[in-house]
Amino acid sequence: MNKDYLLFHRPFISEEEIDEMVDTLRSGWLSMGPKTIKFEEEFNKYIGSQKSVAVNSWTAAGHLTLEAFGIEKGDEVIVPTMTFPATAEIVCYFGAKPVIVDVDKDTLNISIEEIERAITPKTKAIIPVHYGGQPCDLDEIQEIAKSYNIKVLEDAAHALPATYKGKKIGTISDATCFSFYATKTLSTGEGGMICTNNQEIAERCAIMRLHGINRDAWKRYSEAGSWYYEVVAPGYKYNFTDLQASLGLPQLKKVDIMWEWRKKIASRYLEGFKGFDLLTLPYIKNDRESSWHLFPVRINLEMITKNRAQIIDELKNHNIGVGVHFMPVHQHLYYSETFNLDDKNYPVASTTFPRLMSLPIYPGMNDNSVEKVISTVIDILNQHRR
Ligand SMILES: Cc1ncc(COP(=O)(O)O)c(C=O)c1O
Repeated sequence: MNKDYLLFHRPFISEEEIDEMVDTLRSGWLSMGPKTIKFEEEFNKYIGSQKSVAVNSWTAAGHLTLEAFGIEKGDEVIVPTMTFPATAEIVCYFGAKPVIVDVDKDTLNISIEEIERAITPKTKAIIPVHYGGQPCDLDEIQEIAKSYNIKVLEDAAHALPATYKGKKIGTISDATCFSFYATKTLSTGEGGMICTNNQEIAERCAIMRLHGINRDAWKRYSEAGSWYYEVVAPGYKYNFTDLQASLGLPQLKKVDIMWEWRKKIASRYLEGFKGFDLLTLPYIKNDRESSWHLFPVRINLEMITKNRAQIIDELKNHNIGVGVHFMPVHQHLYYSETFNLDDKNYPVASTTFPRLMSLPIYPGMNDNSVEKVISTVIDILNQHRR
């Protein structure tokens, strides 16, 4: 690998994770066990939620949560178009319909007006996505959910940690699902967590994550366990493992340090690009704090002679990796064809997507790299000014 290449993301792994992993390998217990339970407890304490249930991805977390909500064939679930397709796909698992809606032009979070327009008697849930880590308008969403008796599953794949009006994300709605995928703000390689204040939802998810076996079945091979178990529902194989917890436990200890690092990079980007007319910078509302999982900028395409792909290629040639978040769900072949979705009903996402580019932002990224990103982006865009 070219050592001068600045990766779009690098997990922040240190000796603590390596030592914890070796300890697990020597322990003889690799799957769900004591470290998974400890990770759930520590995570729960950190978030301030009543219950946390660890699983092997956000996708599994979302699927189990909708199952616990009682989503069935024919139901409708409202999902923003500006997300990773997993947010919509979990609805399809039930033969339910993901009702894909447009986003707010400033934040790219789900639009409150579009939620209101999309509600029908079949609507059973809303999945607001905290795009890039900035919390959605949760007060308004809660109000709508209460008045129509709809459940809310927050997609917080990007939002660890983040706050809304002083409250941590993970404490507010019926359930909140986090992702610990490789590029996320806490990484266990793959992984996810369901946080909820609802005991029934937590219990259902805990049972369904491991074949629908009644509680503590994971102990069955340990001294504390018994060979006997009962299946109470046809569940899934979605459990977390102690190998994943070996990354999660030390990562959780430094989750605030990692957040501070990203916040510092975000402020430097905001300062460094201030007044630069070829970019539109992320807009953060002042009653909430972003996790700064992403730093998505919009290229003001009408002012330059190149398109986004050409700019990304040039950045790559200058040893800078960037990302694109996201191709809107309604533009993906399956969703556009199956649900007959058209760009004209998604004016914000459709006009914003071709401009979007996410700049590197992660702990371990040094000041020189941040300065290099700022100056290179400015130079390249200026070279193509109309
Ligand atoms: C907004 C959003 N939701 C859900 C997911 C799915 O997460 P996982 O890979 O843990 O299933 C992702 C992953 O990139 C995401 O960005």
